[in-house]
Amino acid sequence: MAKNTEAKVYEELTAAALAKLTDSYVPYSHFNVAAALLCRDGDIVTGINIENAAYGAGICAERTAIFKAVSEGKKDFEAIAVVGCRSEHLATEEYKKGILPDYCPPCGICRQVMREFTDPNSFKIILARSVEDLKIYTLEELLVDSFGPENL
Ligand code: THU
Repeated sequence: MAKNTEAKVYEELTAAALAKLTDSYVPYSHFNVAAALLCRDGDIVTGINIENAAYGAGICAERTAIFKAVSEGKKDFEAIAVVGCRSEHLATEEYKKGILPDYCPPCGICRQVMREFTDPNSFKIILARSVEDLKIYTLEELLVDSFGPENL
């Protein structure tokens, strides 16, 4: 992807994630997370974290997005944008301007699930505080020397 196009696409991906934050189901942690997954065909599949009274049954936003996509027959991914904040932040003026207090890095299990379906050297993980404030990593940077399908 050309650098300019890439920047625009990552902005769009971040905006898609930010727009889903209010849909998170988080009655226990009160911490909203949303993700937007860019598929090779150009589609964007979003996900939110969904908690459960039996805490271990909850699922992270990144895995919701990836499992939604895979269950729709998509397995080829280019990038994922992740955003998160405490629920109380959703009532602030900052949030209405699209600004979050901090970046929300993906948990270890989500990184491993990304590893299953992506090339760690090219798959991009975008951590965003707003559409203009992004930190971009490859999966390899966030999950060094990882175990994947070809290790079996
Ligand atoms: N969470 C995510 O959705 N993604 C992550 O990668 C980190 C954590 C969720 C899980 C739980 O619902 C809440 O954030 C607090 O841990």
